[in-house]
Amino acid sequence: MFKFDFGIEDDEVTVPQQEADLTQNEVQPETFANLSLAQLLDALPPLISYSPLPIPLSSRRETATLARRDLFDARFQLISEGGNDEPTTESSAPVSALNFLDVPSDIVPGVYEGGLKTWECSLDLVDYLDGLENPGNSYFSGKHILEVGCGTGMPSVYILYQLFCGSLSNASTYVHLQDYNASVLKLITFPNIILAWYMSPASAEYRASAPEECPPPDSTLPGELPITPALKSAFSGSLTSHNINLAFSSGSWESLTAHLDVKSDIVLTSETIYRTEALPALIALLRKACTNTQPLCLVAAKVLYFGVGGGISEFVRTLESKGMALRGCAGKAESVWERKLGVGRKIMRIEWA
Ligand SMILES: C[S@@+](CC[C@H](N)C(=O)[O-])C[C@H]1O[C@@H](n2cnc3c(N)ncnc32)[C@H](O)[C@@H]1O
Repeated sequence: MFKFDFGIEDDEVTVPQQEADLTQNEVQPETFANLSLAQLLDALPPLISYSPLPIPLSSRRETATLARRDLFDARFQLISEGGNDEPTTESSAPVSALNFLDVPSDIVPGVYEGGLKTWECSLDLVDYLDGLENPGNSYFSGKHILEVGCGTGMPSVYILYQLFCGSLSNASTYVHLQDYNASVLKLITFPNIILAWYMSPASAEYRASAPEECPPPDSTLPGELPITPALKSAFSGSLTSHNINLAFSSGSWESLTAHLDVKSDIVLTSETIYRTEALPALIALLRKACTNTQPLCLVAAKVLYFGVGGGISEFVRTLESKGMALRGCAGKAESVWERKLGVGRKIMRIEWA
């Protein structure tokens, strides 16, 4: 187990001892699974509690605020459902997300990869995306978008919020979210997407139809959102009317690479380069996921992940290496966003060779 000491929620985090036990067993990587929209809708609890997540922006707007499901609420859901929810590999001990909900920044390689927490660089990505020319919220419309290692999914949640604020479109937009852990997608990522829809004009008709059940659609306020059959059906209706297709997959990067048969125009990933030995699999996935014509492939990361050895130099070295060239996956990284204060952070745009 290791823990990075500079995430946005680290103040709240303590390190328990019992999780060391989880690493005792030989761990097999999680295999690939698609989670359908119906499965994720079914997995929602009757009520979601949420809090505002302010995101600093470089633009004159200064801050964007997204609503994010509270971790304590996800914990409550798991406890009320009886605990063990994570599909496990044959050789690993059964593991519940409950083990990690109290300590979301503790990473146990091959078991839990940190997706319950929002990491700083995902907010940097939101800032970068916010700076793109986006007339009438149309930039993302009609695009194939993949977020690799999404965790709480703030960049995709931001994109979906923009799409829900935009006009109805004939062009189909695809947003595909991947996380190592299915429980992260179920407990946090998907509820955050529901909240993005709820806070947008796309939910206005639903809100007007059930005013007694509806908190104010204001992402700067904490609140509780009742999840009713009518809300689920209104959400699905908005996806159809906005021509938005959602896909969710869990499992290792190798397993997604083997199953991926769609190319994306926009490929995003943040805080995923911390482990040096995992870099070839990540880079091979990013390469396979990108269209051949001018994809926007963005990797947001800290300059160095203390204690684990990974960081931007290692990533760039691997990206440009002979080994990746032999696999047809070599590329160049251009820095397009940078913050030098404290532990340096960058966003790199990848150009494939
Ligand atoms: C530190 S978290 C970052 C989460 C999110 N991108 C953020 O910045 O808030 C790392 C993410 O990478 C993914 N990940 C790490 N190693 C992985 C692997 N070998 N295969 C698949 N996913 C992996 C996990 O899904 C996890 O959510």
